[in-house]
Amino acid sequence: MKFQAKFLTSVKALSQCPEDGKPEIALIGRSNVGKSTLLNAIVEQKQLAKTSSTAGKTQLINYFTVNDSFYLVDMPGYGYARAAKDDRVEWAKVSEQYFLTRKTLVAVGILIDARHETLENDVAAVEWFAEKKIPFFLVLTKIDKVKQQDVARHEKLLKTSIFPALGTIKTSSVKKKGIGELRALILKLLAE
Ligand code: GTP
Ligand code: MG
Repeated sequence: MKFQAKFLTSVKALSQCPEDGKPEIALIGRSNVGKSTLLNAIVEQKQLAKTSSTAGKTQLINYFTVNDSFYLVDMPGYGYARAAKDDRVEWAKVSEQYFLTRKTLVAVGILIDARHETLENDVAAVEWFAEKKIPFFLVLTKIDKVKQQDVARHEKLLKTSIFPALGTIKTSSVKKKGIGELRALILKLLAE
């Protein structure tokens, strides 16, 4: 199924999030992991979500309406050191509140760079969602940059960890790998 997407709004406070009750799926992960690029691949539109080779491109919570029925939400990355410290603290508060209180949030896609196994902040993020019982799935990104057997090992590592992920999908936004599978998972989660 095609995802027809358009940009809705960028918000920096929870009070500005849409209130029409549509379900939403948020994409998170370290800065530069490929969240915005993956969103564009999912909806087959280049630069709908703004991407950059330098970390810290996405600064606000960006809402994209898909098929007039749900939202994909592109979030700023975590572990971005260049933002002012006060901004980082402020952002951490807003995003934590968002994940803990957003009633229409169906699941969070946590993106992990296939090149880096078990980075500390990735593990901390996954543990946090598991502990808070916020449903999440894992997405390995940039598999075009890694040997196939290394991707397989990384995937196994994630699958055999204690984290109760709703799915683990290996993707390359550049080579368009795993994108159909990801769309199918998103539709399945929305239908449940
Ligand atoms: P922030 O908004 O800063 O948090 O980053 P982001 O996670 O949104 O990353 P973004 O999508 O902007 O991509 C970062 C860089 O990774 C860009 O140079 C992309 O072209 C590159 N990239 C993203 N996905 C892939 C992929 O599947 N393969 C390869 N080789 N590069 C990718
Ligand atoms: Mg981004």
